[in-house]
Amino acid sequence: MARPTVLITGASSGIGLAFARRLAADGHDLVLVARREGRLKELADELAAGHAVTTEVLAADLTDADDLARVEARVAEQTRPVELLINNAGFGTFGSFAELPIDQEEREIRLNVLALVRLTRAAVGAMTARGQGGIINVSSVASFQAGPYNATYSATKAFVTSFTEAVHEELRGTGVKVMALCPGFTRTEFQETANAEGAGVPSLLWQTPEPVVRSALRDLRRGAAVSVPGVHNKMAAMLSQLAPRALTRRVSGLAGRRLQG
Ligand SMILES: NC(=O)c1ccc[n+]([C@@H]2O[C@H](COP(=O)([O-])OP(=O)(O)OC[C@H]3O[C@@H](n4cnc5c(N)ncnc54)[C@H](OP(=O)(O)O)[C@@H]3O)[C@@H](O)[C@H]2O)c1
Repeated sequence: MARPTVLITGASSGIGLAFARRLAADGHDLVLVARREGRLKELADELAAGHAVTTEVLAADLTDADDLARVEARVAEQTRPVELLINNAGFGTFGSFAELPIDQEEREIRLNVLALVRLTRAAVGAMTARGQGGIINVSSVASFQAGPYNATYSATKAFVTSFTEAVHEELRGTGVKVMALCPGFTRTEFQETANAEGAGVPSLLWQTPEPVVRSALRDLRRGAAVSVPGVHNKMAAMLSQLAPRALTRRVSGLAGRRLQG
């Protein structure tokens, strides 16, 4: 019997890896996407052996147009349908915008925004034709306010949350569920990649990827448009949205300046 297939971008570490482990344990076939093919192959073999599911590896740099087109084509296939797309691959840049290398900022926008939009479009076309499916777009609590010293990253995530909420609404009644997942500080390779150690952030505020994934899948099942995992993140998201933007950007600017040292 065919098992529902999930395509996960950024499956080689962190939140994407935790989604892969959880969904394999739940009996889903997987398509694993990221650049580090060796890691994906190891994971694919481990999950196929451990859970008797089918795993496919699609090594791709999603900032590259040709690689992205290959992944879009896989998402849109009707003969081997992808029933859940998890747009999770992403990275952040931290520091004074005036000093951050512009090419890296551009790659951040290509990955966090452009790849996510194109893959969502590929999935929506195929899923609405079938009258069912799900899409999780991984955003961040950073999406709810401007982020000084994290300017491009926060803006990409603001895009992701807004875009996802809009598409969620457009697809109401089609059988296709679309949800933004907005985690806070999560222990993954993210901080290292961004050259931001997260020092000074109280340990109480950190989550591991597993509870993030659990609450995301629960929220998707109940048809949420936005999922914020963890009580402290829910409170932070609510405060960010209630407080005047002039205040939140000023406070995060002061905090960001302190972290810059
Ligand atoms: N960790 C946090 O505190 C936090 C908080 C809020 C939101 N998020 C979001 O959560 C998502 C997952 O991040 P994470 O925390 O799990 O970080 P992570 O451990 O660094 O994982 C990032 C994943 O994205 C993949 N990736 C990076 N660049 C890519 C590219 N050009 N093409 C294809 N794949 C690429 C990486 O794989 P390869 O290097 O093998 O390509 C890796 O699998 C991101 O969208 C991030 O913005 C994270």
